[in-house]
Amino acid sequence: MADLQLTDDVPPEAADGVWLACIECGETFAPFEEVRYTCDDCDGLLEVRYGDLPTFEDFEGEGSGVWRYHAALPFDVGVTLPEGDTPLHEVPRIEEAAGVDSLRVKHEGMNPTGSFKDRGMTVGVRVAQEVGVDRLACASTGNTSAALAAYGARGDMETLVLLPAGKVAAGKIAQAALHKARILEVDGNFDQCLDIVQDLAARGEAYLLNSLNPFRLEGQKTIGLEIMEEHYADYGEYPDRIVLPVGNAGNTAALYKCFRELVKSGAITEDQVPKLTGAQAEGAAPMVEAIHEGLDETNRWESVETRATAIRIGNPVNAPKALPGIRETGGTAVAVSDEEITEAQRELAGEGVGVEPASAASVAGLHKLREEGEIEADESVVCLTTGHLLKDPDAAAEAGNDPEPVANSTEAVLEHIGAESSSTVRRGASKVLTSPLALVAGGLGVAYLYRKLRSKE
Ligand code: F0G
Repeated sequence: MADLQLTDDVPPEAADGVWLACIECGETFAPFEEVRYTCDDCDGLLEVRYGDLPTFEDFEGEGSGVWRYHAALPFDVGVTLPEGDTPLHEVPRIEEAAGVDSLRVKHEGMNPTGSFKDRGMTVGVRVAQEVGVDRLACASTGNTSAALAAYGARGDMETLVLLPAGKVAAGKIAQAALHKARILEVDGNFDQCLDIVQDLAARGEAYLLNSLNPFRLEGQKTIGLEIMEEHYADYGEYPDRIVLPVGNAGNTAALYKCFRELVKSGAITEDQVPKLTGAQAEGAAPMVEAIHEGLDETNRWESVETRATAIRIGNPVNAPKALPGIRETGGTAVAVSDEEITEAQRELAGEGVGVEPASAASVAGLHKLREEGEIEADESVVCLTTGHLLKDPDAAAEAGNDPEPVANSTEAVLEHIGAESSSTVRRGASKVLTSPLALVAGGLGVAYLYRKLRSKE
């Protein structure tokens, strides 16, 4: 099992108090001297480590968004658009339906390219500049490629994205295309695309910016920092639980790292760490399987399917960091059906919060775990929504109301909407009818209806 204990010993390889450590064998490496994604000795996942860990007071200085937290990051500024500072929405109707003490929704879809990936890319692309590479690459279910393309463009670097053909939502491909990424559509799934990108990276053909790259997760840690600060400011306490959609398990790993660092610095105590709770789609749920069956690692699901294409992933590469995160914080993992995901997407939209399907898995997971009694009524919960509604316009259109064709006239529209049937409309209309123009329009409408009735006789 991975050793995720943070130490005080700064190894000689550290640069300005920053180094890389293997979570499996403990080997340490200089952070930027060479390009490396996994351990040279045992191929274990790497983690960025710091000699000095900040408390909340250290974030009170200048700056905004992700870079306000530079004391917790390897640089003071990155390639920025800027990102972070996303809303922590109140959702009173969902809160009531779920029956929890409090519920907030951290909407990461409000980042510059519409997903949380921007937080990782602002750091990752900065590191790419530091190590001196010129071609950036990723495999993606869509959002990583959109973010990489935009941040690569911002940093004036070449970007290459490998996507599973036919399985990426329209908004995401449009973003990668316009931000000038080279888009390679692979006849395979995301996991196979990632295998290829890892090969390319190992051959020195490109700098890999998937969440396997430990620096990506440093930026994503700031989701946790924002949640903790804002929740504390609003309620005088930290949330009991964070429910989040899980694909490659990068965010789960990043949040766990955020909390380990806060505990180590003394900013929070062990029992103030929120329970990390992952939600996956039933058709792509290797993390849920591993948690429920007590496995040390995930099984690779060769065949995966879900409407939530962003989390259509069968081999979560960050599982060695994320499984301990879920277990050590007392969290759990839950699988939800595509129907439950769509229902939660509608529920969020009904509160004005527009998200893509994968994002809604967190709210669907909350409902399911409440029904199962796993989440208790007295808990304060934050659900993470990871991507914007417009990322997947087809899914949104399918989940939402159908457009209604109507003839090109006010009378036809009035007739179609059944203007007499709704009290709200009548109240509004009585106000509007005080204007002379509205009186004329109203008169015409009545005349039209009268003619219609007459013609029926
Ligand atoms: N939600 C959305 C909207 C995503 O795009 C992703 C991952 C996740 C959740 C899962 O996050 O991997 O940190 O567990 N999307 C990646 C991509 C795989 O390529 O855009 P995770």
